[in-house]
Amino acid sequence: MKKMKPSFCCLVFLFFLVFSATQCSAATCQSSERAALLQFKNSFVPNPSCLGSPPVVASWGVEGGTTDDCCSWDGVECSNQTGNVVGIDLASGCLYGSIDSNSSLFRLVHLQTLTLSDNNFNLSQIPGGIGQLTDLRQLDLAGSGFSGPIPSAISRLSKLETLRLSSINISSAVPDFVANMSSLRSVSLGACGLTGIFPQKIFHLPNLQHLVLPYNPHLSGSLPEFNMNSSLVRIWLEQTAFHGELPSSIDNLKSLTSLKLGNSSFSGIVPATIGNLTGLLELELYANNFSGPIPSSLERLTELTRLFLSYNKFRDATLSWVGKQNKLAYLGLSGIRLSGTLLPSVGNLTNLVQLLLGENELTGEIPSWIGDFAELTDLHLYGNKLSGSIPKSFSQLMNLKHLYLQSNYLNGTVEMSMFMKLESLTELHLTANKLTVLDDHVGKPNETLPNFNLLGLGSCNLTQIPTFLEKQNELELLELGENNIQGQIPKWMWSMSRERLMVLNLSHNALTGVEEFQDALPWLNLTVLDLSNNRLRDSRPILPAICKLSKLVALDLSSNLMSGVLPQCIGTFGSLDIMNFRQNSLHGTIPDTFRSGSKLRFLDFSRNQLQGQVPRSLANCKILEIMDLSDNQLTDGFPFWIGTLPMLRLLILRSNHFHGIIEEPETNTEFPMLRIVDFSFNNFSGDLPLKYITNSKGMKIFNTTASAYRNTFITFSFDYVWALEFFYSTTITMKGYQRDYSRIQEVFTSLDLSSNRFEGQIPDLVGNLEGLQSLNLSHNMLSGPISPLMKNMARLESLDLSHNQLSGPIPPELSQLHFLSIFDVSYNNLSGPIPTGNQFNNVDNSSYVGNVGLCGDPLSKQCGDSKPPSSDSDEDEDEGSDFKIKFKTVLIGYGCGALVGMIVGNYILGRKEEWFKKTFKIGIPKNWEE
Ligand SMILES: *[C@@H]1O[C@H](CO)[C@@H](O)[C@H](O)[C@H]1NC(C)=O
Ligand SMILES: *[C@@H]1O[C@H](CO)[C@@H](O)[C@H](O)[C@H]1NC(C)=O
Ligand SMILES: *[C@@H]1O[C@H](CO)[C@@H](O)[C@H](O)[C@H]1NC(C)=O
Ligand SMILES: *[C@@H]1O[C@H](CO)[C@@H](O)[C@H](O)[C@H]1NC(C)=O
Ligand SMILES: *[C@@H]1O[C@H](CO)[C@@H](O)[C@H](O)[C@H]1NC(C)=O
Ligand SMILES: *[C@@H]1O[C@H](CO)[C@@H](O)[C@H](O)[C@H]1NC(C)=O
Repeated sequence: MKKMKPSFCCLVFLFFLVFSATQCSAATCQSSERAALLQFKNSFVPNPSCLGSPPVVASWGVEGGTTDDCCSWDGVECSNQTGNVVGIDLASGCLYGSIDSNSSLFRLVHLQTLTLSDNNFNLSQIPGGIGQLTDLRQLDLAGSGFSGPIPSAISRLSKLETLRLSSINISSAVPDFVANMSSLRSVSLGACGLTGIFPQKIFHLPNLQHLVLPYNPHLSGSLPEFNMNSSLVRIWLEQTAFHGELPSSIDNLKSLTSLKLGNSSFSGIVPATIGNLTGLLELELYANNFSGPIPSSLERLTELTRLFLSYNKFRDATLSWVGKQNKLAYLGLSGIRLSGTLLPSVGNLTNLVQLLLGENELTGEIPSWIGDFAELTDLHLYGNKLSGSIPKSFSQLMNLKHLYLQSNYLNGTVEMSMFMKLESLTELHLTANKLTVLDDHVGKPNETLPNFNLLGLGSCNLTQIPTFLEKQNELELLELGENNIQGQIPKWMWSMSRERLMVLNLSHNALTGVEEFQDALPWLNLTVLDLSNNRLRDSRPILPAICKLSKLVALDLSSNLMSGVLPQCIGTFGSLDIMNFRQNSLHGTIPDTFRSGSKLRFLDFSRNQLQGQVPRSLANCKILEIMDLSDNQLTDGFPFWIGTLPMLRLLILRSNHFHGIIEEPETNTEFPMLRIVDFSFNNFSGDLPLKYITNSKGMKIFNTTASAYRNTFITFSFDYVWALEFFYSTTITMKGYQRDYSRIQEVFTSLDLSSNRFEGQIPDLVGNLEGLQSLNLSHNMLSGPISPLMKNMARLESLDLSHNQLSGPIPPELSQLHFLSIFDVSYNNLSGPIPTGNQFNNVDNSSYVGNVGLCGDPLSKQCGDSKPPSSDSDEDEDEGSDFKIKFKTVLIGYGCGALVGMIVGNYILGRKEEWFKKTFKIGIPKNWEE
């Protein structure tokens, strides 16, 4: 027999018990069934993916002696009583071909068990002929390469107890008739591409024990109220679109041992009645939208071995209810805002294999008794507020594989040697604490060291690259950023993990160069290289070497001292997404080598001495989102062709030698996504290019969802284990202040055309920029009146029109701009009364100087007899609205000079984020089926 699934073994055994009670001799085969089996055998061709091992059926009817007795054939079982073929098990039988409804298989009408799992039926349909096998109790087609809907013929199998179709591409709904198949005990339809709504009545099938539906992301449904007489033992619905609440009648499922609802869309509170399910062994509710408190009744579930509640929106969560569940082996409580300490409850859980408590708000120290958890393989405490030192007892955790302690307040000295005996350790992450890591390991001959895949020693007060790394050949991610590593990158590093290394971060150190450089970097699989913020001087070895890294996704060499020219290869990378050369001393032109199919989204050449034109081949970078060329010596007309880049959101050309008139666009399709535009400090002339800008939906429509606030410009994930986040940083100039921001939120919108030679009027078109938050037209030669339609720019927070030749009054309508906190019209030819009310009450007089005709508050010049114009909106609307109050509060907080702080503070999260963030996601375990 081929290896059988455990459940099948039991069934066959049962069947033998039942059928052999009255029978002593072995069954012999009936000739009609033998003929049917031989015909079935001949319907298959050799399976190309089973080379070397012929299909199980190949042996049927060919060996001497047993040739005739089909009951002795591999995978065939007969009834000892009647001699009929009652079971066929061809699991993993290397069958290749299709089975149609006329197949001789369906003449074996006494079949009770049919197992064809793990074969390749070549995406043929599940044959309706199965409906003829009305004695069938077990049908297992899992992973058989069938496809298509569950045939209605299945409804005729009224004795069917087990229906196992997992990993068949069904791509349709579960038919309603399944709810009428009252003999069913086990339904397995995992990873079937199911769609539609799952028939809720199936939960009420009187004999149903196992309902296994995970990994069907388009399968919708909800849980019913449960009755007392349910037989359900196992409910697995992970990674589906199931939603709604967990009914409090869940405690009627007296037999339930396993409830897995992770990564779906459940919500509401977890009912306290769940604590009545005292037989529960596995409870997985991770990555849903559960809210409210974690019920303390969970402490009654003392038989639990797996408990995963991570990534929900629980309130006031603590660990107080854990402690009696000392059979727990797997405990996942990450990302649920747990507060308090690890003491004392976790101390009882000495059988833990995985303890996942990352991204919470835990405080206190890491107890040293964790070193006594002999089985522990995974310890996640990252992203908490833990303090104190790393217990020395961790050196006893001989099974430890993954230790994540990054982003806490841990301090003290860590001797690297304490981890060197832990031979299972593959991932160690200590970045972003206040630790000092000592590279104290002294190598001995023939010693076995951990083989790290991931090593995070960022901001660990290292002064050199740890020497034990020389022997590390399995590193995929090495993070040594934000240390104090000086001098040259040692040459031994060039032989470390040549095949494996994917991510290398040496940023924020004091590296000056490379010792003994060859013409190539050795890591052919490198996808992320961050050498930014060092003192790398000579571009010549490094830049050409980068050309050979064909798999690069992110390259950051910003903030170094590199002189020299850009290599021609920079446009030719097939997969490069992020390229940052900001703030070096590069000169020469930008190579015109950007190829079509480019994956670039982020391009920053700012703060160098680059000359010449913007290369036309950049038009090939069709998914470019961010382009910053500021502070160079580029000489070019307006690169209008950039307008064809459909995804471009940010375009900064500030402080170059761009010149000439910006003609009107030929179509209305240019710059559809633009949100941040800065052309300031150039020599552009002619009319304001507002026609271009108003094509942008980003500037016209203000549509913020909660998620847009959270999104920063660039994030991308690697595989299911790592997610790296990159934060775009730039300089924003407002009211004379230039400030650097490390992270800009996606919703920020700004237009800066200042310090050019634009002339003529501000067109009324400006009123169309309803989504704009900051507008700077200062230091140009604009004339004519200020358009009253500017009142339509309802989100505007900063408006700078200073140093132009604008005339006429300040339109009183502008007092309707409720968010305006910076307003500057100084040095124009404006006249008449200054509007009053709303934000205008907070503008100080420096914003009006240099306009001889202006009068009224806050200027000392009064307006004479004429009444000040009262705005039509002043006190009647928005009185005391939330936003206004907030605005005022902030205003007081920042004082008058620093209004920038308010604007930018609202939209930029200034906090410097850790360079990358490791997110724990639970992948599809290999053995999820049984
Ligand atoms: C039924 O017959 C087979 C041999 O054909 C034998 O191995 C098996 O033990 C019999 N079952 C019982 C329960 O006696
Ligand atoms: C079930 O749990 C609830 C809440 O914890 C409790 O009030 C109720 O008495 C329990 N029922 C049974 C039958 O134990
Ligand atoms: C630890 O387990 C013991 C025995 O089950 C129990 O009495 C005690 O309350 C538990 N401690 C905590 C903190 O839960
Ligand atoms: C670590 O921080 C604690 C305060 O959290 C302090 O008392 C202790 O002295 C620090 N230890 C070291 C070695 O810096
Ligand atoms: C180290 O290994 C080599 C070869 O595997 C062996 O000849 C030598 O005796 C070992 N040395 C020690 C100290 O075990
Ligand atoms: C960094 O390490 C040096 C010794 O190498 C030590 O003197 C210094 O206190 C450490 N800094 C911090 C912040 O721990």
